[in-house]
Parts: sequence; C-alpha cells; structure tokens
Amino acid sequence: MRIVLIGPPGAGKGTQCRRLSAQLDVPHLSTGEMLRATKSNPELGPIVSGFIDDGNLAPDELVMRILTDRLQEDDCAAGYLLDGFPRTVAQAQMLDEYLSAKEQHLDAVLELDVDREVLIRRLLDRAQKENRADDTEQTIHHRLRVFFDVTAPVLDYYREKGLLRKVDGEQSLDQVFESLVRALGEIH
Ligand code: AP5
Ligand code: MG
Repeated sequence: MRIVLIGPPGAGKGTQCRRLSAQLDVPHLSTGEMLRATKSNPELGPIVSGFIDDGNLAPDELVMRILTDRLQEDDCAAGYLLDGFPRTVAQAQMLDEYLSAKEQHLDAVLELDVDREVLIRRLLDRAQKENRADDTEQTIHHRLRVFFDVTAPVLDYYREKGLLRKVDGEQSLDQVFESLVRALGEIH
C-alpha cells in the first residue's frame, strides 16, 4: 500500500506512522527526518538547515530527489507510508508523475485534523523533551502558517481525486490509530 499521511506540525504524523508501519509492514518515510539527517553532510547540511530550522519548506526539487532516491530501495517495493510529503501542490504533481511512470498509484491520503491551540501545546511540550531546532514558539507559529498557506491546497488536490480520508487527530493515541486503520479498511 502507498499511503500519504498529511497534517499540520504536531498533528501526530510521525507518532502514527511508526505504529502503522509496524501494522502494515511497510517503511515509514519522513521527509522531515531525511532532511534533518542531511545536516551532517558538509555541502547539503548548511543549505538544508537554512530552510528547516526557520520553519520554511526546502525546495521541491531537492526534496523530490532525496525522496525518490529512497523510494528506489528494495523495502519500498511493496509500498510505504509518506510522512510530511507532499507538502506543496507541485510536490503532489511530481509524485503523481513519478508513480504513473511506474504504473503505480497512491491508495489513500489520510488527513490528521487537529486544532491550532492543541498543536501549539503539543509542540511546546515536545520542545521540553526533544531537541528540534524548529520547536521554538516563533518557529512553531511560522510552520503552522506555512502549513495553512502552502500545504492545505494539497488536501483539496487529493479530495478532488477522491483519495482523502479525514481523521480526528485530537483523540487519544490509540483512538487515532484505530481511526486510521478503519479509514484504510474502507479503501477498495
Ligand atoms: P517534519 O519533520 O515533517 O515536521 P512537521 O510537519 O512540522 O511535523 P512534526 O514532526 O513536528 O509533527 P508530527 O505531525 O510528526 O507530530 P508528532 O507525531 O511528532 O518537517 C520538518 C521540516 O522539514 C519542515 O518544516 C520543512 O522545513 C522540512 N520539510 C519536511 N518535509 C518537507 C517537504 N515535503 N517539502 C519541503 N520541506 C519539507 O507529534 C507531536 C507531539 O504530539 C509529540 O510529542 C507526540 O507525542 C504528541 N502527540 C501525537 N499524537 C498525540 C495525541 N493523539 N494525543 C496527545 N499527544 C500526541
Ligand atoms: Mg514528524
């Protein structure tokens, strides 16, 4: 199964993808984690940090290149879960072109819906425990703005294709997981 999980910063994409990946036995591919991993690369690192540490999107072509390199690996043959990609309509179109060249398609796009106040609270909580450069109050607000301005149109893109399933991401971890599994069960 090829599945996209989409939702604003703090919606629970990473948390739920880790569980779904075990349940469905497909890899969890987070473009955010891939980009953070390039920080140790002497050439790419400073360029990528310049975007992500301030909460701005990395360029579409760069993200697409990093992702498609990963998609070529054997463990992606039976499917994958995309976390944080696509984030622009251009990325969604590039993914469609990539898939149709392989005569493949997405099975579902799952939207995690969470209120802004809850997102801010979760990310500020996470900032106490983890050390992500973009989990400062100012950058959290900026990331949310980027999501609603630039990524929200991707939801319309998939809704028009009949692929979008919306799940209430404010439930408990277990309830969100169950809702996602149920939404996937409704796919034909
Ligand atoms: P990315 O790493 O994708 O970050 P994000 O979208 O900002 O989302 P987060 O990882 O912060 O949140 P999440 O939804 O994974 O939630 P989590 O499960 O951690 O991207 C980072 C940056 O990389 C971007 O800003 C951009 O610069 C760049 N980038 C990435 N992809 C890109 C792309 N395609 N194009 C261009 N640039 C790109 O949960 C959050 C917290 O809430 C956790 O502490 C968790 O324990 C808690 N929590 C989760 N679920 C629940 C629940 N149900 N109840 C209570 N608490 C919960
Ligand atoms: Mg994440």
